[in-house]
Formats: sequence, structure tokens, C-alpha cells
Amino acid sequence: MKPAMSSNRLDIRPAPGLMDTLDEQPLDPMLMVLHLLRSDPRPNKIDLGIGVYRDNTGCTPILQAVKSAERHLVETQTSKDYLSPEGDAGFVAALAPIVLGDGIGGETIWGMQTPGGTGALRLAAALLHRTNPECRVWIGTPGYVNHAMLMQAAGLEVVDHPFFDKPSQTLLFDAMMSALHEVRRGDAIVLQSGCHNPTGVEFSHDQWRDLAAFLNDRGVVPVIDMAYQGLGAGLDEDAWGLRHVLDHVPEALVCVSGSKNFGLYRDRVGALWVQGTNAGSVRRARTNLNLMARTLWSMPPDHGAAVVRTILDTPALAAQWRAELETMRLRIAGLRHDLATAVPEFETVKTQSGMFSLLPLDRDQVTWLRIEHGIYMVESGRINIAGLNEGNLPVFANALRSVL
Ligand code: LMR
Repeated sequence: MKPAMSSNRLDIRPAPGLMDTLDEQPLDPMLMVLHLLRSDPRPNKIDLGIGVYRDNTGCTPILQAVKSAERHLVETQTSKDYLSPEGDAGFVAALAPIVLGDGIGGETIWGMQTPGGTGALRLAAALLHRTNPECRVWIGTPGYVNHAMLMQAAGLEVVDHPFFDKPSQTLLFDAMMSALHEVRRGDAIVLQSGCHNPTGVEFSHDQWRDLAAFLNDRGVVPVIDMAYQGLGAGLDEDAWGLRHVLDHVPEALVCVSGSKNFGLYRDRVGALWVQGTNAGSVRRARTNLNLMARTLWSMPPDHGAAVVRTILDTPALAAQWRAELETMRLRIAGLRHDLATAVPEFETVKTQSGMFSLLPLDRDQVTWLRIEHGIYMVESGRINIAGLNEGNLPVFANALRSVL
């Protein structure tokens, strides 16, 4: 006979705990595609989902410049002692001219390393909330899925404004400007400089000029996200809007990522710059950012930033990185051209730039492409152009024609 105690144990039903109060959460649309893709056993499935660069063989390569810098670090690094919540100051200094241009600097702009562009955005959101909890953040629709979630995670209210019309593939600048007339002084707006995610469209220089003048006039703080610099029209051209806005507004936040242009995705390389009206305000922002970084991640991971610093501080490696980046950029532009030629109904993809286009497909068409053809894209119709290659582009083009 079993002792009574063990049967009693079986009877113990713990009272609902704290975790029982949680609601289940869905995967975000990007991670959902990844999940579906990874559970599909078909060998010829086509991955146009998450935004990573792929070469013509479908691989996401480690850049040669990165490999060389890593070898150098392995040979020469003598310690892995902590740095600080600000990360690697040499990395930020080396990246600044690439992002901000040669002419900008001084006491009214200051930057720090962050864990990826996501870390920079999350910290920027926390700073905005600290400066003004009533700040509303304006975000264009359709936009990058994580922008709104990141702002809301910091307690900020998000307000949508029109940005792009999917069926006609047009940038809605006038509609956007008229919606923005509702802004309040002290609100913020998330802008993307170059290679817009998910649409691939870009403001013209005149539109950037009008927008910057408006933001300055109405006291709106731009949060400029540049996650794909160099993969659209080139390193300087992709940053044109960012630099123009910085030149024409007193306060701004700049968030960048090294995931795509250095191919350092999982190493989490990013940076945040804050531009203020005077040295004192930037110093105050710096101390607050340090404190908030300390409570979010304490210190950013070192390796990827050290790789970028090594590349940019070594002229031969910097030249090699620029050449490798240009190869990636030209491959994407070529794929855009080839897709537009193969499916003339989607010829706008060749006028867009960067890794993404938002195809004028509805959810049923996207689902059909996935189930029938093993083609994976975000449910909105966003495709990662870099997922195409000589082998799968004709297959994709045929499948697209079959749903039109
Ligand atoms: C994407 O949009 O696919 C990338 O920026 C990856 C991500 O983290 O969302």
C-alpha cells in the first residue's frame, strides 16, 4: 500500500500564481513568418521574410572585412573587462562620420553604443518619456512593426499618420503633412532615413526640406532610424535626410544599426546619438541615458562594436567593407530590376530601394503563395528583396503571376 502522504501530494493543487494572470501573446508578424518557415519541410521553399541580406546562394555571409577584424581582435585583445553603459567610445567616434557626415559634431551632439538599433530605439523612447511623459509619437503607416511596440513599451502614446498607399504604391506626402498639423509641441515623430521598412520608398530632398522646416517650426522631436545605410542609394545618399533634419532642428535622436550593413545581426551592434540645444542639455541627456541603459542592459555587448571600430580604424579594412557593402547594394538593385522585368505589374519595385518592398497583395494571396508555393513573406505583402536569387526569382515571378 502506498503511504497516504504520496497520494495527498497528488491532491495538492497550487493556487493560481502571478504567471497565471498573464495573457498568451502572439508572435509579431515577422517572427510568425520565421516560425512558419522553419516548420515547413519543403526543400525548395523561398524565404522572403525576415530582413537579412542573402547572397546569390541564399546564404547570409560573414563579410571578409568582419572576418579579418575578428582575427585581429582574437590576436590582440587582452581583456574582456567591463566597459561602461556607454559602450565602446572608439566605435561611436569611428561610426559618427559615416552616419552624421563629416561636418557635424561639437558639444551639442553626443552618441553611445547600444545593443542593436532596437536598443537605440528603446533607449530613445525611454528618454522621450523621461523628458515628457505626455509626448505622443507619430509613426507613418504602414511602418516597421517594432516601432510602435518599442515606443509603447516605454509608456508613450503612438499616433498613426498616413505614409504609403499599398495598392497604388505611392508615398502619401501631402496626406502625411496634413495629418501632422495635429501635432503638439513636444511630440516626437519616427522617421526612417533611406531604405524604408517595409515600403522601400524614400522622401525626395524637397520633401525632407519641407518636413524638417515643419518639425522645427512646430517643435516636434524627430527620432531618426537608419537601419540599412548603404543598401539603398549609397552610404551618403541614404543618410541625406537624416543629416538634413539634424542641420535644421534643434533637438533630435538618431538610432542606427550595424546588423545589415556590417552583417553583424546576432552580435547586436547599434548606436544612439542625441542632439540638444546646448552642451548642458546634452550632458543631462547623457547622464539620463547612462542611468536608463544601466537598468535596461547595464552594458552593451562588446564584440560587434569592436569589430566595426577595428574595420573603420583600419584603412584597408574600411575600403574592403565599403566594397563589400557596395556589392550587396548593387545585387539588391539588380534583383529589383529583374523582378520588375519578370512581373511588369510590379514595376514599382525598381523605383524603390533597400531591402524591402510592400507588394500590393492581400492576405489571401500571401497565404496562397505560402501554402501552394512555399513562398514566405510577411502577411502584409512585404518581401525581403535580398532573399531572391537567380534560382528562385523565376519561380517567384511565376507564382506571383498565378495570383494576380
Ligand atoms: C526586419 O524588419 O525584418 C528586420 O529589421 C528584422 C527585425 O528585427 O525586425
